[in-house]
Amino acid sequence: MHSSRPENKAGVFPEGFFWGASTSAHQVEGGNTNNWTEWEEKNAKRLAGNAKNEYAFLREDLFREANNPENYRSGKAADHYHRFREDFDIMSSLGLNAYRFSIEWSRIEPKQGVFDEKEINHYIFMIKELRARGIEPFVTLWHWTVPVWFEDKGGWESKDAVSDFEHFVTKAASVFPEVKFWITLNEPDIYSYNSYKKGEWPPQKKSIFKYFRVRSQLIRAHKTAYNALKRINPGVNVGIAKDTMCFQPYKGKWINRLISAILSFWVNKSFLNAIRSSLDFIGVNYYFRNLVHLWKIQNENKIVSDMGWELYPSGISEVLTALGKYKLPMYVTETGLADSNDEKREWYLREILKEISQEIGKGIDVRGFFYWSLLDNFEWDKGFWPRFGLIEVEYTKSCARRVRPSAIALKKIIREGL
Ligand code: BGC
Repeated sequence: MHSSRPENKAGVFPEGFFWGASTSAHQVEGGNTNNWTEWEEKNAKRLAGNAKNEYAFLREDLFREANNPENYRSGKAADHYHRFREDFDIMSSLGLNAYRFSIEWSRIEPKQGVFDEKEINHYIFMIKELRARGIEPFVTLWHWTVPVWFEDKGGWESKDAVSDFEHFVTKAASVFPEVKFWITLNEPDIYSYNSYKKGEWPPQKKSIFKYFRVRSQLIRAHKTAYNALKRINPGVNVGIAKDTMCFQPYKGKWINRLISAILSFWVNKSFLNAIRSSLDFIGVNYYFRNLVHLWKIQNENKIVSDMGWELYPSGISEVLTALGKYKLPMYVTETGLADSNDEKREWYLREILKEISQEIGKGIDVRGFFYWSLLDNFEWDKGFWPRFGLIEVEYTKSCARRVRPSAIALKKIIREGL
């Protein structure tokens, strides 16, 4: 059903292709209590204080938001917890047939070993509502937030971390039998780097030893979760959402080629190699190309997002070609941009979909595309000002939804091709 057609040209997607959008619980639900909400409380003022220097490049309205401490508290976020049906109706109207979201561990297991039936039922209901609209759920088990009790025990550094996670995953597998696509971890390399090497995200540690320890714990966590999910329901598909980047050598120089190859191996492949035997599919999250000039990244930045990130949709081809070597089905589980005026999103969507369809045409097994994000949301330590959504959330009007023109353009692409 999913196999790519040999005659595939740019703009043609295989039968059964999943057209989706992604979110994560902490970024959209609102009303969470977890390690991040605690960290936000302690750091909101500091982050707002840094904004003057850090975000001086922002447009005035966004800059104003970035200077406000409230910007850095997730609070009610996009209120997706209460408005998910409305959001799913919009998804249906756009022709989307898949939704990637995460279930919030801290809601399901607020105290160690104590599961909250009401919260479990909330997600069961969400899954039912998706199925009623013909939307396939792709469920992420860990998208960076953890319960406070887990963090208090030492978080991912703790010797119990993997078995605690396994306990949660086992429960999830048995109470959500409707889920056919599981994503164990979201971007483990980005998390371990920002939280334990750079020391910017909770728990803000800066230690190369801790970084490697957490990374290897996450490798074990994935494998353990894979086995637990398969034990309970052997028919499910289990993968990971891997952060990937495209590396290109500046001016093609040999030294830059060598460094690019090393970086590309470390960033894109080394985690996947470690979990290769416990993977049914690869989820590809793609945002960046890096033009490598010795040990520096020297991007051209011809087109940038509101966040100043270079937009380089064609870089995804290199990533997909490279990961195609694993001979596993792939889903683009995230790609997108912060673009509050919706000026570049349609262009980005068209360009990246062109690249993906060309890869499919070459025989690369890509079975779905999930735009990040369905909704404007809480962008971690940056807060609310970056607007990634296909759907605009009007925060000043109690989170009213407004479908952006680029979402309508995507609808047309889904229906008519590129
Ligand atoms: C993460 C998302 C995040 C997005 C944009 C990805 O790294 O999985 O949670 O919002 O990038 O920064």
